[in-house]
Amino acid sequence: MSESIDPTLFRETLGNYPTGVAVVTTLTEDGAPDGMVVGTFSSVSLDPPLVAFFPAKNSKSFERLRNATSFCVNVLAADQEPLCRRIATVWEGKFDGVQWRPGPLGSPILDSAVSWVECTFEEVREAGDHYVVLGRVHALGVQRPTLPLLFFQGGYGRFSPRSFIAAPEPELIQAAQLAEGLRVPIEELSAELGVNCGVLAKVGTDAVQVLASDRNPSTEAFALGHRQPIIPPLGAVFMVTSTPEEVDEWLGRVPPGAPDRQEVHRAVLEKVRERGYSLLAVDSELLQRHGAALTEFEQSDRLPRHERAVREVTAELADLFCPDLVPGERYDPASIVVLIPTTADLPPMALRMTGLPQSATTEQIESWVERLKQVAESVVAS
Ligand SMILES: Cc1cc2nc3c(=O)[nH]c(=O)nc-3n(C[C@H](O)[C@H](O)[C@H](O)COP(=O)(O)O)c2cc1C
Repeated sequence: MSESIDPTLFRETLGNYPTGVAVVTTLTEDGAPDGMVVGTFSSVSLDPPLVAFFPAKNSKSFERLRNATSFCVNVLAADQEPLCRRIATVWEGKFDGVQWRPGPLGSPILDSAVSWVECTFEEVREAGDHYVVLGRVHALGVQRPTLPLLFFQGGYGRFSPRSFIAAPEPELIQAAQLAEGLRVPIEELSAELGVNCGVLAKVGTDAVQVLASDRNPSTEAFALGHRQPIIPPLGAVFMVTSTPEEVDEWLGRVPPGAPDRQEVHRAVLEKVRERGYSLLAVDSELLQRHGAALTEFEQSDRLPRHERAVREVTAELADLFCPDLVPGERYDPASIVVLIPTTADLPPMALRMTGLPQSATTEQIESWVERLKQVAESVVAS
């Protein structure tokens, strides 16, 4: 690399240019699909019809792909992030369970791809530490006209057309209506204890505050509509009733580079499952950093690099979750959360208490948990 260009600046600057995500597939001699994920797919020429992508010279996957006589570029859909991650990282069995059919030249067309472009290799040219692969297009088509997967600042996302702003999530309205039914007992509870209580609904991968009753003016309360990405250990209460696949997806949201944290989060989830509530202890410095990262994330239009910062600081909270309460000891609780039992047609919901008195005894905390559970369970009766 030229001495005058800093590699981090190069990556960061170019990472601000969004790309689509495609899987370049070929058929192995054994008749099985092989492939690699590329963000560098591009249209080049109509006459003659040429496309391009840029594999790294050290790519082992491309070393295999280039021996094929043809290849197919499969454009991934917005809901195919898990498949993308798998093909980009897994070495063996990348395509296990993936449905495909051979294109006119025999290269695999993935059933779930938005569109496909089947090519022969026109030219493979060196360009620095990458190759420029020019493909001569032989056949192509759009087979699933849906939103494509996008990659930007190292994170995945989707296109949102300005002129067709989606209606607000319908689950939010249902959740707010259900929470309204709990308003009276929640207001009574927050007044009785002088604390802040709120109802959270799980909408997609966020927890959204749909009801607030704040009676502790000395602590900052969460506003109505406040959104927090559910990143482990946060949201453990919601995971108690989730499928194993949803739990794996939740655990997958921990920052890369901290795989051992997954076990810590799993242990937190087991404690929450056994006890029926989650308790977060106070660490002012960490909670302040968490709050600051969240604010920056929200103010930045939820950009991927701010999301990464939130993920990193959230993962650190695990050590503050669910301490074992010893009779007679005192604790500084930051929040207690219990699940609100809802039917399958409603979003998962939870009741959270914050602004709690500090230096609380185990017995006090246990009595608050019981009161929260009573209120949460009154939704079944109502
Ligand atoms: C969104 C995304 C875009 C990528 N784009 C490219 C690309 O354009 N060129 C490339 O060589 N690798 C790209 N990669 C990396 C490869 O897909 C793959 O992870 C890498 O090649 C794995 O190493 P291997 O080729 O030695 O198996 C991309 C990965 C992701 C997740």
